[in-house]
Amino acid sequence: MKPLNLPGPIAKRLIERDQAVISPSYPRGYPFVMDHGRGVEVWDVDGNRFIDFAAGIAVTSTGHSHPLVVKAIQEQAEKFIHISSDFYHSKWIELAEYLDLIAPFQEDAISFMTNSGTESVEAALKLARHYTGRSQFIAFLGGFHGRTLGAVSLTASKPHYHRGFFPLMNGVTHIPFPDPYRPVLNMLPGEDIGTATIRYLEEEIFGKTIPADEVAGIIIEPIQGEGGYIIPPKDFFIQLREVCTRYGIMLIADEIQAGIGRTGKWWSIQNFGVEPDIVTTAKGIASGMPLGAMIARKSIVSWPKGSHGNTYGGNPLSCAAALVTLDLIENEFLENASITGKYILNRLQKIKEKHPSIGEVRGIGLMIGVEFVTDPISRKPAIEFRNRVEQLAFEGGLLTLGCGRSVIRISPALCITEEEAEEGLQIFEEAITIAETEEEVTTSKEAVSIEKG
Ligand SMILES: Cc1ncc(COP(=O)(O)O)c(C=O)c1O
Repeated sequence: MKPLNLPGPIAKRLIERDQAVISPSYPRGYPFVMDHGRGVEVWDVDGNRFIDFAAGIAVTSTGHSHPLVVKAIQEQAEKFIHISSDFYHSKWIELAEYLDLIAPFQEDAISFMTNSGTESVEAALKLARHYTGRSQFIAFLGGFHGRTLGAVSLTASKPHYHRGFFPLMNGVTHIPFPDPYRPVLNMLPGEDIGTATIRYLEEEIFGKTIPADEVAGIIIEPIQGEGGYIIPPKDFFIQLREVCTRYGIMLIADEIQAGIGRTGKWWSIQNFGVEPDIVTTAKGIASGMPLGAMIARKSIVSWPKGSHGNTYGGNPLSCAAALVTLDLIENEFLENASITGKYILNRLQKIKEKHPSIGEVRGIGLMIGVEFVTDPISRKPAIEFRNRVEQLAFEGGLLTLGCGRSVIRISPALCITEEEAEEGLQIFEEAITIAETEEEVTTSKEAVSIEKG
């Protein structure tokens, strides 16, 4: 791998200008300055080409600038760009009809359109409180639900999301996510981590601190995203659904990252055989145009006219992009997410066999996590090592994103082909090999200096 010299001169100048005027709060990982993209290929402003395994944080579901998405946006822009949510337009209605058809419940669905994931979560919180007349929420450690004050109160993946922002929204209790690789809770004989989590919820939380009949909703990412691409045990959701039904609690599936076909099904919760009451979506729904939605079972949409709204909800350009996006996913990319996802997962399992730095490879469809550890027995997260792999992959021409403490997520556009995946995987493996060699050199230098005293 001949490393690219990054950032190039044009990128460097732009980053300097950015630093002078753009909020320093954005968590930029490495200096990629985009010029243009097509499918899963992107080019930076200095003309360097990259394979994109990140898709703008799992957003560009149909690839960068899919011609049909571009055409739909252009055609809509010629007609009108905005009218506000005080009025009606056909693309907005068509989109809600589409979401009704694909919503992961038998009952009819009602949608509230937003401009982002966090805003979809805010809508879910408000609807759950309004419908149940209750105040409390249960969320999961490691979960990510957004950064506005309500949503960030549910988020529990890193302390810096909260530092300096207290007090947060009242009424949120976090419990451990059922992580089979790093279980937090003790398991009784015969239990898996899913059952242990449900027992903890009922005995320790409902039994000791929060009365179940005061809980409005339990919000969960069916596959935890930012927390590390973690897949709970198969039966966990059946038990969670049962608890929610028993106590009249809304089960809110945050599908903002895992939904819209990423796992080879419309919604990631469909991998676990249960129906939620509310779904939050955004990211992949409109191929990168800002759009989200809170989708709820019709019978719980209790709020009256004026109780919730927004200026840009149902933005015509975003709705036009979403309609084409959903069509493309339904007709082509849903199946590809499963097939190419399996191909990538198998290839990564083989790569793992050769690389002791990889503790686990896990995933469904095109939502795949590679977890790096200092050694496979202690499973201690190899944080610096993961960061180095990410950087080396970038220099080799591959965009990836970290998540959890020491995981790299593989979340490319749903249109990725086997050949494109292969090109990216080769760069990825080479980055791991270089990082492992660097580590061996450092370790042996340290050993020599200890010997020398
Ligand atoms: C599961 C989940 N929920 C909510 C959000 C927040 O979405 P946004 O950044 O669009 O506000 C994200 C974003 O990464 C997410 O992954």
